Amino acid sequence: MNILITGGTGYIGSHTVVELIKVGHNVIIVDNLCNSDIKVLDKIEIITNIRPIFYSFDIKYSTLLDDLFTKHKIDAVIHFAALKSVGESVTMPLEYYENNISGSIILFEIMKKHNVKKIVFSSSATVYGDPATIPITEDFPLQTTNPYGFSKLVIEQLLRDIYNSDKSWSIALLRYFNPVGAHQSCLIGENPNGIPNNLMPYIAQVASGKRDFLTVFGSDYNTHDGTGVRDYIHVVDLAIGHIQALKYFETHGCELITVNLGTGVGYSVLDVVNAYQKASGQTINYRLAPRRHGDIAICYANPTLANKLLGFKTQFGIEQMCLDSWNFQKNL
Ligand code: NAD
Ligand code: UD1
Repeated sequence: MNILITGGTGYIGSHTVVELIKVGHNVIIVDNLCNSDIKVLDKIEIITNIRPIFYSFDIKYSTLLDDLFTKHKIDAVIHFAALKSVGESVTMPLEYYENNISGSIILFEIMKKHNVKKIVFSSSATVYGDPATIPITEDFPLQTTNPYGFSKLVIEQLLRDIYNSDKSWSIALLRYFNPVGAHQSCLIGENPNGIPNNLMPYIAQVASGKRDFLTVFGSDYNTHDGTGVRDYIHVVDLAIGHIQALKYFETHGCELITVNLGTGVGYSVLDVVNAYQKASGQTINYRLAPRRHGDIAICYANPTLANKLLGFKTQFGIEQMCLDSWNFQKNL
């Protein structure tokens, strides 16, 4: 298939591109490089021996997107392009709504115009807000407290409305838990600009000596060691979930599915610190601090539906996630 990947030079997008090429798909990337580096294309080429077709523009430029769909016969779209920092979305809500929601509307309009009706969308466990119980199943109530999360909720709803109006669409809403780790080649991974917001990239920088210590946000949660618990999923496992979603549509035709992509296992901040120390052989200094505003105590998936519908089963445990993150960090 010819697959258009929006945000394909980003963290999850680049890993998905590699897996798509591996199974023989033709990949076309559109990315405005607002949070990624063009050098990722060289890395993808080294890993796969194939350089994907690349367009550098903002998906909000409808004329350019229209031209792209005219030039290439696109069979399906995987839509990663978005701004993704929760904290930043609180200070820049308009930019988040404009980029994530307006960008998606333009993409869906152009898809409709060109009769491309197959899409896999990057949603997030953030749409569950603070769940009443765990593990989280897809039928839990949706709620969110920040513009980033709200942009994901709106795009999900847009896609549900599109499907309700025209049942010839195939739509997968994939709700990711906490993607971490890197490709085993050490060539692609997550390398945020500035101070990392997320746990694993921060630990990686402490391990490499770039930062002195990790601040552990909250040690008084009702968890086994008092620190927050999350469902960390290896980015390569996550990437494979997208290929399985596309495959699902080959056998099931037009449908809208909503699926959690997580492992079903929760690890605390200190569990991750310990696993990273073991994987890297480095000491991770940390200091306990008050809770981070907006954080929840425990969040992990019930991955049963992903397994049932897509055959999704994660291969990599926390040890491999830490090891691959570390190997990538050392290689920077
Ligand atoms: P990322 O920032 O690494 O990748 C996103 C890519 O989209 C970047 O390369 C960026 O340059 C590009 N982009 C952004 N806006 C664009 C636009 N208007 N036009 C063209 N390109 C644009 O992020 P990621 O971690 O790879 O996340 C991919 C998707 O998964 C996002 O939609 C994100 O919200 C979602 N998600 C991520 C996580 C996570 O923890 N990483 C968790 C849940 C959901
Ligand atoms: C964050 C986002 C969420 C997004 C997810 C994946 C917030 C409030 N939520 O989730 O919307 O889907 O990333 O990108 O930002 N921690 C520390 N010290 C740190 C960093 C994190 O102790 O320096 C702790 C956090 O308190 C949390 C855990 O580590 O308990 C994981 O944090 P993080 O990696 O930021 O992910 P989430 O908060 O789960």
